Amino acid sequence: MRLAINIDHVATVRNARGGLLPDPIAAALIAEKAGVKGIVCHLREDRRHIRDEDVVRLRKAITTKLDLEMSIAPDIVAVAKRVKPELATLVPERRKELTTEGGLDVVRFSKKVRKTIEQLHDSVIAVSLFVDPVRGQIEEAKAIGADMVELHTGEYAEAHTRSEQNKHLKQIRAMASFARDLGLEVNAGHGLDYTNIQPIAAIDDIEEVSIGHAIIARAVFVGLEHAVREMVELIQGKNIK
Ligand code: PXP
Repeated sequence: MRLAINIDHVATVRNARGGLLPDPIAAALIAEKAGVKGIVCHLREDRRHIRDEDVVRLRKAITTKLDLEMSIAPDIVAVAKRVKPELATLVPERRKELTTEGGLDVVRFSKKVRKTIEQLHDSVIAVSLFVDPVRGQIEEAKAIGADMVELHTGEYAEAHTRSEQNKHLKQIRAMASFARDLGLEVNAGHGLDYTNIQPIAAIDDIEEVSIGHAIIARAVFVGLEHAVREMVELIQGKNIK
């Protein structure tokens, strides 16, 4: 399983002082050196962390793969078509939320999402849909032409008891297998951290996990390169010292 890092919160810290540091592009390069296979950033409508120029600079600087997380708003789709990331991950977006809440309702917004997928495919950008691990959403994702789904692991990550966590894990495992059988590639993410990653990493049908907050938070104490290497080791099934 591959690790992709979401670097939004490097930009959050930078923006807190209005200057240039820490630079999210420098963070992406360190993370690549430490073993990530992709860089993820979310260009939000309110540009609260990543900005347009960051996406352009990332596109030029990184050597792995750029995954642009985005809503289906036309101006953001236009940015994606200009920058041409390898992958666009479509997510729901609400202005007041602290972070993405819940998966995209592909069934409800099927027509609009299909149109966005077509526009992105016209620019040779692969499309992943961030969905709850629910059969109907995955079936619709396939029906409207998505290449991939990213299964939302938030409920698993936030479960308060072991049995609740196991219930969500079972559902994620079943839906990863279901999506693969439909011919979709499968990623997973949201809320994954150093304590809960290993059961997800053991699911063979999931090819990549997208992790942001936990790695950036740990990097404050141990440095980014170390924080990434620790997560890579956990994903590979090693116990970190
Ligand atoms: N995947 C998606 C689609 C997300 O929206 C986010 C949060 O930006 C993540 C993964 C990463 O979540 P976290 O920061 O909790 O690791």
